[in-house]
Amino acid sequence: SKRIAILVSGTGSNARILIDRFRQHPEDGVEVVLLISNKATAGALTMAAERDLPTLVVQRAEWKEGQELLRALDAYDIDLIVLAGFLWLIPAYLVHAYPNKIVNIHPALLPKYGGKGMYGRHVHEAVRAAGEVESGITIHYVNENYDEGSIIYQAAVRLDPEDTAEVIADRVLRLEHGNYWRVVRGL
Ligand code: GAR
Repeated sequence: SKRIAILVSGTGSNARILIDRFRQHPEDGVEVVLLISNKATAGALTMAAERDLPTLVVQRAEWKEGQELLRALDAYDIDLIVLAGFLWLIPAYLVHAYPNKIVNIHPALLPKYGGKGMYGRHVHEAVRAAGEVESGITIHYVNENYDEGSIIYQAAVRLDPEDTAEVIADRVLRLEHGNYWRVVRGL
């Protein structure tokens, strides 16, 4: 089966769903074998530990340099790297080591509302401020620029003028939960 490493920075609700889905469905042929966080305080680390999933915390200097990280990914025999709320830019060495093997989920309909600084709440606040009638999710390959790799899958949600950023965030996150595992399985 294909072996996945998930990269996170926060809560890890998407990571949790991927881990649990593929554990409950071995016939999918996908296994999450490693969770990597750039934040030692990320809730996702506790979630992974509760599931006896190996975790790794990567520091900024090590992230830029890459030796240890590449060694770990190699040791775990990783086929696909899945970003799930991971907020650092992916360095060139990693893109080159895993060509078309790194995917991200973004909580908006790219190419709108992407780029540096456009993550989490900020995305939904910008969508709301612009008076958009829809938002959604984008799953895409990762290159060296934020949110610019080729798009694999998008799905939209309708918005009402009175929706707060929080309401939009909830609706979009639910769409992520319903789709990310399916798209990852397809890859
Ligand atoms: C998700 O909404 C994800 O799309 C977003 O962060 C949230 C993470 O939630 N990612 C970005 O904004 C990346 N630019 P989670 O930790 O509960 O999965």
